Amino acid sequence: MYQIDQTFTMTHAFPVCFDRDTLAPENSLLTDILQRAGEGPHRVLPVIDQNVLESHPDLVERLQFYAEIHNEVLELIEPPLIVRGGEISKSDPVEVDEFYQRTQTQNIDRHSFALVIGGGAVIDAIGYAAATAHRGIRLIRMPTTVLAQNDAGIGVKNAVNYRGRKNYLGTFAAPFAVINDFDFLSTLPKRDRVSGIAEAVKVSLIRDGEFFNWLYDNRQALAQFSQEETEHMITRCAELHLAHIRTSGDPFEQGSARPLDFGHWCAHRLEELSASELRHGEAVAIGIALDSLYSHLKGMIDAKTLGRIRDTLEGVGFRLTHRALESLDIHKALEDFREHLGGRLCITLLTREGAAQEVNEIDHQTMEQCRQHLLEGAWPN
Ligand SMILES: NC(=O)c1ccc[n+]([C@@H]2O[C@H](COP(=O)([O-])OP(=O)(O)OC[C@H]3O[C@@H](n4cnc5c(N)ncnc54)[C@H](O)[C@@H]3O)[C@@H](O)[C@H]2O)c1
Ligand SMILES: [Zn+2]
Repeated sequence: MYQIDQTFTMTHAFPVCFDRDTLAPENSLLTDILQRAGEGPHRVLPVIDQNVLESHPDLVERLQFYAEIHNEVLELIEPPLIVRGGEISKSDPVEVDEFYQRTQTQNIDRHSFALVIGGGAVIDAIGYAAATAHRGIRLIRMPTTVLAQNDAGIGVKNAVNYRGRKNYLGTFAAPFAVINDFDFLSTLPKRDRVSGIAEAVKVSLIRDGEFFNWLYDNRQALAQFSQEETEHMITRCAELHLAHIRTSGDPFEQGSARPLDFGHWCAHRLEELSASELRHGEAVAIGIALDSLYSHLKGMIDAKTLGRIRDTLEGVGFRLTHRALESLDIHKALEDFREHLGGRLCITLLTREGAAQEVNEIDHQTMEQCRQHLLEGAWPN
């Protein structure tokens, strides 16, 4: 027997910046980031969510002008790749393939950059494409939705859907940098403004009771998309997600525990059952409601806490029921989630505002009761 115990560690480091007007000629954030890779000029392929471009029609011109002014650091690869926005970019292989084609035809190598500007879906799809082309092209993300700025765009995961299964193909890959430019949010449709708040409610409930209390107190301002409150919500939510990835000891999720997936076992299934008619955040809000109801019926949280969770979610603008719940097969959804985790079932439940507990078994009958409560909109008092 001959054995070599191969061990090495690798540090992943990337800045997550909160900014405005990033492409103003005098703003040096993007060039400073590029220079972390050396002097330059660095070749950068912009990949832009079509809906973002439609809402910001001068975006390409602004990028071109920025590159012209900073040509010693940034060489734009033209034309930018414009991709369809929303879940279709993850469900249909077209966007990923277009990215691969560009890397081939324009000689984009592992020292080049992709700069993806878009919602969480485009960021996920292009993140997957960038992580797999040449085994990894440097990626700078500019998330443009609430959900992408407070969760989807800041972490180390990417994915596309495969044969109707959400996030079936994906990799763990840290970006080179993330720039959350708040100015993009002004053009978001109301539905997408609200949707991203679900991830803040989620992470507050499992990690930070004070933040949950703040969300409860400010639910009306958040529903109206008041700028100051929205930006605080995004920043705090991002901080909590980043702290978890940094300190949990399992950034690439090798264990079964998935605390940040509170409310997600059912959310992913509802997204599938609704054929993506439900936004991710909308499905997560229903998933939080379901698992909070379950936590309550199991005596883990009191009625007051449950009421405050409901008031927060409904107060910011979520509907906590959807016809997709009618066809939710609890047994199958839990089994698929267990398989996705790759071992034991591990579901996060609440013990109070800001504290969670993992359980390895779910009482299907009680969960079924929770599903009925949501379908009927009648919660226990
Ligand atoms: N990788 C992760 O860690 C992670 C975490 C959470 C969620 N996700 C994924 O993120 C996706 C959801 O992201 P999302 O909520 O950002 O939705 P989305 O990407 O579908 O965007 C919603 C809609 O808004 C449009 N849009 C984006 N920015 C805009 C802007 N500034 N102005 C106008 N329109 C704009 C998009 O084109 C789309 O039509 C899901 O696929 C989910 O699975 C990934
Ligand atoms: Zn989520």
